[in-house]
Amino acid sequence: RQGAGSAAQPMAQPVADASPARAVTVLFGSQTGNAEKLAEMLCQRLSAAGFTPTLQNMGSYKTRQLKREDYLFVIVSTHGEGDPPDNAEAFHEFLHGKKAPKLDSLRFSVLALGDSSYEHFCKTGQDFDTRLEALGGQRFYPRMDCDVDYDDSAEAWIDGILKSLSDELSTPAAVTTGSAVAVPATTSSYSRKNPFPAALLENLKITGRGSSKDVRHVELSLEGSSLSFEPGDSLGIVPSNCPELVAELMEVAGLDPKAVVSDAKKETTTLEEALSHSYEITTITRPFLEKYATFAESRELGRLLQEENRAQLRDFIYGREIIDVVRGYPLRGITAEQFIGLLRKLPPRLYSIASSYQANPDEVHLTVGVVRYQSHGRSRKGVATTFLSERVPEDGTVPVYVDSNKNFRLPEDSATPIIMVGPGTGVAPFRAFLEEREVTEASGRNWLFFGDRHFHTDFLYQREWLDYRKNGLLTRIDVAFSRDEEKKTYVQHRMLENSRELYAWLEEGAYFYVCGDAEYMAPDVHEALLSIVEKESRVSREKAVEYVRDLQQSRRYQRDVY
Ligand code: 2AM
Repeated sequence: RQGAGSAAQPMAQPVADASPARAVTVLFGSQTGNAEKLAEMLCQRLSAAGFTPTLQNMGSYKTRQLKREDYLFVIVSTHGEGDPPDNAEAFHEFLHGKKAPKLDSLRFSVLALGDSSYEHFCKTGQDFDTRLEALGGQRFYPRMDCDVDYDDSAEAWIDGILKSLSDELSTPAAVTTGSAVAVPATTSSYSRKNPFPAALLENLKITGRGSSKDVRHVELSLEGSSLSFEPGDSLGIVPSNCPELVAELMEVAGLDPKAVVSDAKKETTTLEEALSHSYEITTITRPFLEKYATFAESRELGRLLQEENRAQLRDFIYGREIIDVVRGYPLRGITAEQFIGLLRKLPPRLYSIASSYQANPDEVHLTVGVVRYQSHGRSRKGVATTFLSERVPEDGTVPVYVDSNKNFRLPEDSATPIIMVGPGTGVAPFRAFLEEREVTEASGRNWLFFGDRHFHTDFLYQREWLDYRKNGLLTRIDVAFSRDEEKKTYVQHRMLENSRELYAWLEEGAYFYVCGDAEYMAPDVHEALLSIVEKESRVSREKAVEYVRDLQQSRRYQRDVY
């Protein structure tokens, strides 16, 4: 890969005529790989324009290099409550700490990835943008905040960087758009922009009768797609909205379903079609509310959107959807085209793949927790989970693509032991890991921690785990059923009970994986890991933190949390 590992030397800049050599560095922080792919694209475009960029992962970036940078392009995503990706955490902390250097000669620009349905939209990118300026850097090109559907904005930012850099360093303006943004090599022609219609092979409820949850084991056919994947990858699903909700929305907004509009791809269609397949009609995002408030001339909504009313806005959005806004704050005289203009494109949903390609070529399995709940007096449905479980006909297809995740991977050495923590549907990728390790006859030991509410109804894939336990593939399985007894038992309690052995595995080089809930489970499991290291190695808390950070940086601690 271009430039990787050569960060210690400023790169020669051959084309810029009289200017001295300038270091051009593209630095990314990426959880699932989107920021990394964009960073690679920017590097390719920079190289094509005659620059010699260096591609750097924040996780392995030498901070002393910072003072030597001339042009620094940061591409970083934001997760959960405004958190950096795992591989960006240490650098983010360093930059905001007392040891951060003065950066008076730095010129920088930030591309921030995020999801506008979260309160702290693009916060990590904004942090870097603000902080680099505060340290003396000069914002060379304005920051771009990208929503889930980031292609167009990212491309515009890349174009802008290329143009400004060429102007400034007087290279021939080599700005070509569109096709010049290289699509990562893949053997299949199917991608996010062109998903494959995968036949539904199986939609099986795997939680038992009486369970409070409806979890499905879904199998889709990839036959004829040439799509393949690695354990740890996700499957992107392009869902359609619930037809009843589409109908209700049009009725309440006073719009004709057959009105002609252009859809998200700028093709002409009916309003009904566009709302069914192209636009998000459930999640309230801040940009939606801003546009809506203006259109509805609602002072009440306007007030909620003021900076000092953040907490009230959060309360308002909680448990509500777009339909509640349209019912509560009537729109007068809006046209179909204007209504569409309030909405964002329907983002695809990613699911951790639950099967191994090598074990089941031409198939992909998912573990899907169906989202249905009541709030503010209405029944609500998760878009993609109810699409998969209720709306795809038995002989129907689901538009899919593979979203690779380089940051969730089995160890390269198949003899390395692994510890997997996956409560609830978080167990999905570990089913893929185990299938893969079985077909490849990997010799490494495997330890699974699984948890859910009740043993009788919620022990997902119980038979498979027990078979693996019997045939020796699973060295250990420890389970925690949280609602079978008075006292709650969670996966982290099982980890703590097995503290000595878990630490011994780590000392023997085991990889540690966590998948599932990002809000409570993952931080609690992280905390348990720290206390295990602290207790068993008899070191200070700081040393334990360092140990775990080293695990993370050497990619022996990987998370897929959402
Ligand atoms: P609960 O629903 O009884 O609280 C899968 O969803 C399992 O994860 C359930 O048993 C759920 O328990 C549990 N869970 C909830 N919060 C958790 C946390 N902070 N840490 C670990 N497991 C948790």
